[in-house]
Amino acid sequence: MENFIFNIPTRAYFGKGQIENLASGVKEFGGSRVLLTYGGGSIKSNGIYQAVIDQLNGAGIFYIELSGIKPNPPIEDVYEGVRLMKENNLDFIVAVGGGSALDAAKAIAAGAKYDGDVFDLISGKVAVNDATPLATVLTMAGTGSELDMGGVITVGENHKKYAIIHPLLNPKFSILDPEYTFTVNEHHSMAGCSDILSHLMEQYLRPDIGCDVPDRMNEGIMKVVLDNAPKIKENPNDYIARANIMWASSMALAGFQFMMGKKFGAFPVHAMGHELSSLNDMTHGVTLALITPSWMRYTLKNAPEFTPMFARFARNIFEILETDDVKAANEGIEKLEHFYEIIGMPKNMREAGVSEDELKYLADKATEFGDIGTMTPITKTEALEIYTMAW
Ligand code: NZQ
Ligand code: ZN
Repeated sequence: MENFIFNIPTRAYFGKGQIENLASGVKEFGGSRVLLTYGGGSIKSNGIYQAVIDQLNGAGIFYIELSGIKPNPPIEDVYEGVRLMKENNLDFIVAVGGGSALDAAKAIAAGAKYDGDVFDLISGKVAVNDATPLATVLTMAGTGSELDMGGVITVGENHKKYAIIHPLLNPKFSILDPEYTFTVNEHHSMAGCSDILSHLMEQYLRPDIGCDVPDRMNEGIMKVVLDNAPKIKENPNDYIARANIMWASSMALAGFQFMMGKKFGAFPVHAMGHELSSLNDMTHGVTLALITPSWMRYTLKNAPEFTPMFARFARNIFEILETDDVKAANEGIEKLEHFYEIIGMPKNMREAGVSEDELKYLADKATEFGDIGTMTPITKTEALEIYTMAW
């Protein structure tokens, strides 16, 4: 177990009607001139936009809007936000939406306080050392952006995804009203559940040893996802299921793991999934469901010393009784595949529309900055093997 400092600085207003805390929160954290960011318009048709501007107008808070932030947000949306921040002397950001609107807002928050090109901060060439305070109103559960310190931005012609990560990018507060997620369609709702599960698994299936508290918490939250995702599929307006998934989203990536003794490091499945999103504009959570079982099988085969960890996953999450570790681990992977099938994820990359001649390109891109492995090295060759297994 690593040494750690435990500090999760985002306040969560969770539950029905919590939007009533938006304006007072903005003022409490020093906001008087706000950039209001959101996506492609879902918030206008489901009433969330009206509730947000009623809050801001009711408190006499000046705001300028940046609408149309795209899924897998491109850096161009960030540039536009930074320009609006600087030209209008804005001092606070309210981001309304899913991970894409929230992530763009985080990069804008950092860019607004930086004199150079915000890409310097997104690429990690220059460290973030200041950021505009921001708050979020979450409308889709999955990424965990509402309670974490990271944002993912897509850059350039080959759509490379970069993560900008810094504690200054933790929202000051987030409004988490499960009713706001009722209108998320089945595809995106289930992809969000797959994303939550992957965040938990990427932190659970790591070489760190002795981290019982975060591992046991993770097991519990994984079970929450397995139990509640099918309920949402059955009834999108199931408040309790939506609430459990929303809180699972926040708890999965708020930093409990690496703040409770695990090393902060690579997420290999995410690294490979990001390239699928970039190539085919595929929904983030879908890419993770496509890669995870193959990554598990590859790791089991090539790093047998970690077999007990995969067997523990199988037994504690899927209640598999098999006493042989290798058999139990493989049964766990089959159960996981069955779960993905229940929530409607495509079976393999072929079914998801990826062609075989794209696999090498994906492997090159996923590893272009080096080894992305945790339990085994994953360079170009290994990434190609995993993509091929997933195809
Ligand atoms: O743009 P609008 O019109 O709002 O529609 C969105 C979008 O089309 C729609 N939607 C959101 N809330 C809705 C709704 N539709 C109806 N009713 C609502 N209440 O859903 C679609 C997808 O939204 P998006 O924000 O793109 O989805 P998600 O939350 O999955 O975010 C994905 C992005 O987050 C990044 C991903 O890489 C991807 O770019 N991630 C961010 C992370 C983080 N900040 O920590 C970690 C994750 O691993 C992930 O990488
Ligand atoms: Zn994710």
